[in-house]
Amino acid sequence: MEKLILVAGARPNFMKIAPLLREIDHHWKDQLRGILVHTGQHYDYEMSQAFFDDLEITPPSYSLGVGSESHAVQTARIMMAFEEVCFKERPDIVMVVGDVNSTVACALVAKKLQIGVAHVEAGLRSRDLSMPEEINRMVTDVLSDWLFVSEESGVFNLRAEGKVESSIYYVGNIMIDTLFHQLSRLNNSNDNFKRPEGPYAVMTLHRPNNVDDKGKLQEILEAIQEIGQELPVYFPVHPRTRQRMEEFSIIEKFNNPKILLLPPLSYKDFLRLWKDAHLVLTDSGGLQEETTALGVPCFTIRENTERPITIEKGTNILVGTTGTGILSAYEDFKKGISKKGRIPKYWDGKTSQRIISTLAS
Ligand code: UD1
Repeated sequence: MEKLILVAGARPNFMKIAPLLREIDHHWKDQLRGILVHTGQHYDYEMSQAFFDDLEITPPSYSLGVGSESHAVQTARIMMAFEEVCFKERPDIVMVVGDVNSTVACALVAKKLQIGVAHVEAGLRSRDLSMPEEINRMVTDVLSDWLFVSEESGVFNLRAEGKVESSIYYVGNIMIDTLFHQLSRLNNSNDNFKRPEGPYAVMTLHRPNNVDDKGKLQEILEAIQEIGQELPVYFPVHPRTRQRMEEFSIIEKFNNPKILLLPPLSYKDFLRLWKDAHLVLTDSGGLQEETTALGVPCFTIRENTERPITIEKGTNILVGTTGTGILSAYEDFKKGISKKGRIPKYWDGKTSQRIISTLAS
């Protein structure tokens, strides 16, 4: 029996790991043993039992409890704790997902122990090295033996970086597996969050470039508040962003009927909220993809994206991070200038099957 360690640390990692664990459990139990390791990069960010229940994930076999720190300290703590797990379990493969500090830390540990590394969501590039995630993506891909790619740009990027063809697998988008799985279960579950009546927008914001600078954050929120005059904006606030809004003493100014601040929501409550939104505004990677999959108009509040397919084929528009950029995109949106969008290849809910069958064979 082969042993596969699956690593998750930040909240969106669990959404990517859930369908992989389910696939192993349903079809490959005799050949593969999946061991879930939670690094603890995220801890109070709605990482409650309810979060795991929502995604139908059994508790992790290991919780490393590293918590928040500077990048170097957090990465080093994850590496030290994860090395112990690898010594104990001696896995055949370590699978990492996405682009967070836990991803790069565990890939590095595994590779140095001569353990095979599989990266899910490989090859995405923003070419913006001011994003910690871009550094994590590049380093993780250099170390990985199996590169599971979510959109075609990833294949081109990896080829251009000289990766061997036989290590690149275009398998589609794992987030969409979770999305479709959870959508089909939404009706049967309890509604914990009362959805707004009438048209509304949903926003998420957490990138350091957008929230760590008072002037930038204020500019973005002022533009959103203006949109809120016509379309109330529901805003579940990431812990980093809430901290900054408190630190900059702007939290009261931007908590009103135009921008409604909410605590982080569970996966299902959030899905219920954004799937029926008129417009989503975000700087998240995952939400750019999920809105494309369901055809919901999306404004990405960034200067670039590592997920260009959502712009080429999907409903995503890169609006930049200035107030004028956001508002002029909104003017177009009001005039009905929005994108219809098509669903990219292999965003079909079967990505976990393709990944696990590749590894098992
Ligand atoms: C991390 C990822 C980012 C991902 C995001 C998803 C990196 C470099 N960044 O960003 O790519 O999009 O997760 O949510 O890995 N905090 C809490 N409670 C928590 C977690 C964090 O209060 O449970 C606060 C802490 O002050 C912490 C800050 O948020 O210092 C940042 O947390 P961290 O995990 O380092 O990065 P994120 O901004 O969450």
